[in-house]
Amino acid sequence: MTEHHSAGEGEPAQAARASTTLTDGTRVEVEIEGPNAEKRAHRALAAAAVAASEQTERPVTLGESMGITGESAPMQQLFHLLDRIVATSATVLITGENGTGKELVAKAIHQRSARGPSGAFVATNCSAFNDNLLESELFGHKRGSFTGAVGDKPGLFAIADGGTFFLDEVGDMSPALQVKLLRVLQEGTFMPVGATQTKKVDVRIVAATNRDLAARVREGLFREDLFYRLNVVALHVPPLRERVSDIPLLAQRFLERLGKRDGQKKVLSQHVMRCLEAHNWPGNVRELENEIERLWVLTGDEALIDAEHLTPVIADAIARETHEDSPLPAGKTLHDMVDELERDMIDRALVAAEGNKTLAAELLGISRRNLIRKVQVYESDDLEPT
Ligand SMILES: Nc1ncnc2c1ncn2[C@@H]1O[C@H](COP(=O)(O)OP(=O)(O)OP(=O)(O)O)[C@@H](O)[C@H]1O
Ligand SMILES: [Mg+2]
Repeated sequence: MTEHHSAGEGEPAQAARASTTLTDGTRVEVEIEGPNAEKRAHRALAAAAVAASEQTERPVTLGESMGITGESAPMQQLFHLLDRIVATSATVLITGENGTGKELVAKAIHQRSARGPSGAFVATNCSAFNDNLLESELFGHKRGSFTGAVGDKPGLFAIADGGTFFLDEVGDMSPALQVKLLRVLQEGTFMPVGATQTKKVDVRIVAATNRDLAARVREGLFREDLFYRLNVVALHVPPLRERVSDIPLLAQRFLERLGKRDGQKKVLSQHVMRCLEAHNWPGNVRELENEIERLWVLTGDEALIDAEHLTPVIADAIARETHEDSPLPAGKTLHDMVDELERDMIDRALVAAEGNKTLAAELLGISRRNLIRKVQVYESDDLEPT
């Protein structure tokens, strides 16, 4: 949180101080005298904060060499798996909630595989079209095969030949199309709409879904044979709330990207970062990316991003977290709680020391005399009629 202190109440500010704590714990303070001191102090603080943050720029990580930011344990595991996957043409099924980075992972698989340099990365969203349209989109059609088919169309599978086809939201595919996709996976062939001959392609399939596909198989909504064909290698991208330690680096990378775009530099205050870390991010990395851009825009010319512009639900995240973790005990004073804790520790120490007061006092870090006095007080309290 930025603090402003103006000198002299009621008179125009002659001197002003501003301070903030950066995300790496660095404390930045500036003090300025003269006209417009407050405004200038704030500007100087922002400049100092940007300068201080430049000292802490970090090197590119393994994931980032694949275009994916993250250093947390679950992401490291994902990167190691990715490293093996790119050496093959095996079908991959990527699962994960909305906005976790499934498409980014699919692109990384393509770009780092042998298909990357020459083949195309083609993506389509299986839930965005109705059945007929999706079929023609995927497999192409012959001229005149349906009203509006004014010419031959190759279809995305043909375009992806030699490359990678990313089938997003594959869980939403209709049973009829599931059969046709199975055929591509088994034989590498498909039939354009209205054609009489099959076509053959060499396409690596990477599918993604935010649904529980195994559950859809059990419900009879997704073909079991197709599920096993897709699920050769399963990659799960964890939700952001399970990799909170990645939030600072992600935020920094997004700020750098915006900085390049707008030719400006900005830093987050430590308080903002704490709020970002406390929020549970139902929209995952996409939501974080949007929040950073929102802050970027709302802070205008200011280089130091402070909490006032945070989306309210994110600004309140810390308070909520604290209350959820430890609600205040009802009807108890601080004194009651300290008293309870003290009694409990003394009991435990006496049990541990098998009644030996000298040893128990040592365990508690108090004198033997002090321990005896406390025990006497408790014993007399307990005897008092209530
Ligand atoms: N680890 C990451 N590093 C950098 N940017 C990321 C990362 N993960 C996600 N993003 C960014 O977040 C946004 C959402 O990612 P992406 O589209 O890959 O998610 P998704 O899982 O496919 O989402 P949906 O389920 O909604 O389709 C993109 O702008 C992407 O660049
Ligand atoms: Mg996606």
